[in-house]
Amino acid sequence: MSKSFYVTTPIFYVNDAPHIGHAYTEVAADVLTRWHAQRGESAFLLTGTDEHGEKVLRTALGNNTDPKSWTDRLVKDSWLPLLETIDINNQDFIRTTDERHKVAVQKFLQKLYDDGFIYQGSFEGNYCVGCEEYKNDGDLIDGEGEFLGQRVCAIHSKPVEQLNENNYFFKLSEFQQKLLDHYEQNPKFVQPESARNEVVSFVRQGLSDLSISRSKERFDWGIDIPWDSSHITYVWFDALLNYITAIGYGEDDAKLASLWPADVQVVGKDILRFHAVIWPAMLMAAGLQPPKQVFGHGWLLVGGEKMSKSKLTGIAPNQITDAFGSDAFRYYFMKAIGFGSDGSFSWEDLSARYNSELANGFGNLASRSIAMVKKYFDGAVPAPGEYLEADNQVIAIAKKAATEADAAIDEVAIHEAIQKSWLLVDELNNYITSQAPWVLAKDEANQERLGTVMYVIVEGLRVLNVLLAPIMPKATGKLWAAIGEGELSAQTIGSAGQWGITKPGFVLKELEALFPRVDQAE
Ligand code: MSP
Repeated sequence: MSKSFYVTTPIFYVNDAPHIGHAYTEVAADVLTRWHAQRGESAFLLTGTDEHGEKVLRTALGNNTDPKSWTDRLVKDSWLPLLETIDINNQDFIRTTDERHKVAVQKFLQKLYDDGFIYQGSFEGNYCVGCEEYKNDGDLIDGEGEFLGQRVCAIHSKPVEQLNENNYFFKLSEFQQKLLDHYEQNPKFVQPESARNEVVSFVRQGLSDLSISRSKERFDWGIDIPWDSSHITYVWFDALLNYITAIGYGEDDAKLASLWPADVQVVGKDILRFHAVIWPAMLMAAGLQPPKQVFGHGWLLVGGEKMSKSKLTGIAPNQITDAFGSDAFRYYFMKAIGFGSDGSFSWEDLSARYNSELANGFGNLASRSIAMVKKYFDGAVPAPGEYLEADNQVIAIAKKAATEADAAIDEVAIHEAIQKSWLLVDELNNYITSQAPWVLAKDEANQERLGTVMYVIVEGLRVLNVLLAPIMPKATGKLWAAIGEGELSAQTIGSAGQWGITKPGFVLKELEALFPRVDQAE
């Protein structure tokens, strides 16, 4: 089996329903995976849910139910439907309560224990249940409002809890130099650069061993430590392993080898250290390779702070998709926010971009182009005659858009891939204005020139159709049904910019409306 391009999202806590911050991560990972599939590669996207730990347990109990019933309901009613809402094409969905996961986590733990990477000890520290993490003093800030006078978690703005535990530790400190060497030898391992710098300087300061178990005297919602059933596994240690337990760790070596190491692990920058420090150290201890890349993206902000349900600033993804559709959701968040940077969402910006870029820019380009081929050539794509300078310019931009958008994806610069593709949308709209097919159509003597112009437009649309397929699967599916021959999935990104693929004489079909007018912004 050859290796597939393997992309992962974080697995999400099921203490609440998803908001657009979670959907943002899902869409980015999905676009990357679909792009690689459109290149003709085998590509695999894993996502799922993180169900153990105190945070989920407390929420379940607070809702007068047990954690398993709570997570079952939320996964079914909220998290799986999210994937439909924003059109995610994942190849697997893992829940940390899956039997396959639990068994493999125990195998992994036992191996590390047997190999001497785990020991028993005691620990005292400040725990943030929201982060499910012990905090250093430097991670805390002064509380405000009801927490005035207390030190609170900088992410959740809630007080931390003093814990004194007797538990098992992973020898993370032994991996400091190995990790630094790994960052040095693999400059792209943590991206973007700002994230990489933060991680490297964090590790340079030295690493403490990591407490990886919790006594059942406190709570027991987790996976049993295999050699000591009075302890359960720390939720992050359990959760990080999902990336390999889903693909056959300890069970199916061939499947594991066909996917691991992951090519891109997409995470929010809030959980970068877990993925770029603890996770590779765990893998090194088990004799496995670290992922090829961990990409830490920015936050969707509300009022300058990370959008979050606990702060009541979360917006449900379907509030947006009900009005604008999933393609617009995907396009907007991937284009409007540089991937890796923070960004704010606004209904006004979304609505303005929907109208100008999607409905007028792309949708209208497609519908009027097809309408003109119908009107002037009975729907049959005409053969091009001699190309003039204006035509050659479109051809050059089509090629450039395809090459540069593809290169941007290798840098995980999703916004740039869209910007590069959009140069062709703008060029085709300008070309239509400057060539004015409706003027050419007035005189029979211009028939050949009119044919060339219409061919250039349809062929340009085809290039766009392929490049935008990973971003807007629904609209490009409709466009392909009107202008394409064969399966859209068989059109590779690598050949998208080649000129002359549309066959003269091919009869265009009806085009369904791509971006219907949306009158209200909400
Ligand atoms: N369960 C852990 C991850 C375990 S992975 C082994 C967790 N879950 S989470 O549900 O709290 O958040 C997961 C991810 O959701 C974040 O890393 C980030 O990718 C995404 N986001 C949550 N809020 C977000 C924003 N406001 N903006 C952008 N992404 C956000 O952490």
